[in-house]
Amino acid sequence: MSASLVIGASGGIGGALARALAARGPLTALSRRDDGLDVTDEASVARLLGALDGPYDLVICATGALGTPEKALRALEPDAFLDQMRVNALGPLLVLKHALRLMPRDRVARFGALSARVGSIGDNRLGGWYSYRAAKAALNQGLRSAAVEVARTHPQAVIAALHPGTVDTGFTAGFAADKHDPDRAAADLLRVLDGLGPAQSGCFRDWRGDEIAW
Ligand SMILES: NC(=O)c1ccc[n+]([C@@H]2O[C@H](COP(=O)([O-])OP(=O)(O)OC[C@H]3O[C@@H](n4cnc5c(N)ncnc54)[C@H](OP(=O)(O)O)[C@@H]3O)[C@@H](O)[C@H]2O)c1
Repeated sequence: MSASLVIGASGGIGGALARALAARGPLTALSRRDDGLDVTDEASVARLLGALDGPYDLVICATGALGTPEKALRALEPDAFLDQMRVNALGPLLVLKHALRLMPRDRVARFGALSARVGSIGDNRLGGWYSYRAAKAALNQGLRSAAVEVARTHPQAVIAALHPGTVDTGFTAGFAADKHDPDRAAADLLRVLDGLGPAQSGCFRDWRGDEIAW
């Protein structure tokens, strides 16, 4: 039976992913709130993931934070920008760095990280949100580089940047928008991830499975 690992299981989407995956088979669910796993602190990532044996056929990093999105360049603030880079770009890449040894080399193993459509440079028509957009774009580039590298040691690995849609969680509490229920979002994300094979590793997809422009 295939085992799964969810990082960020205390979140709206991470929690829904954990519920869905627990119904499939063995699940390890970790979070900062419940386990002290801070993705911006490599020592904590190394300690918590280093305590696991795996193997995990599916690893999902569902962590992230929005901060205070800037409406204009004059609102850009260095510490806030760097905080976004730490939590949204560096964090999931540190998780991948330390989760890789837990992923099998002899069969398909999938790693998905929650990115966001607004991290797309090609799709950026509204501007603003400097820090969050830049951090998700940096995450996407890191995942793409990792997909190229990891294919050498894990030829059947799939690494994907995923946009969950607009989902009703604490993250979107201040937004008036048409929001998906987290359980539906989790089902959509798992369907997309399950449908990806090694040939698609390094992709950026939305909850429908459609490619998003880099
Ligand atoms: N909701 C949406 O509409 C939407 C749209 C596009 C993209 N996304 C992306 O989807 C992901 C999850 O969003 P969500 O809606 O589920 O948000 P959420 O409910 O606010 O959950 C955020 C999760 O990230 C964790 N987290 C934040 N900073 C962390 C850190 N330094 N170390 C470890 N964990 C940390 C939180 O842990 P604690 O409980 O410990 O704080 C929580 O588990 C994010 O990457 C977000 O950018 C969401």
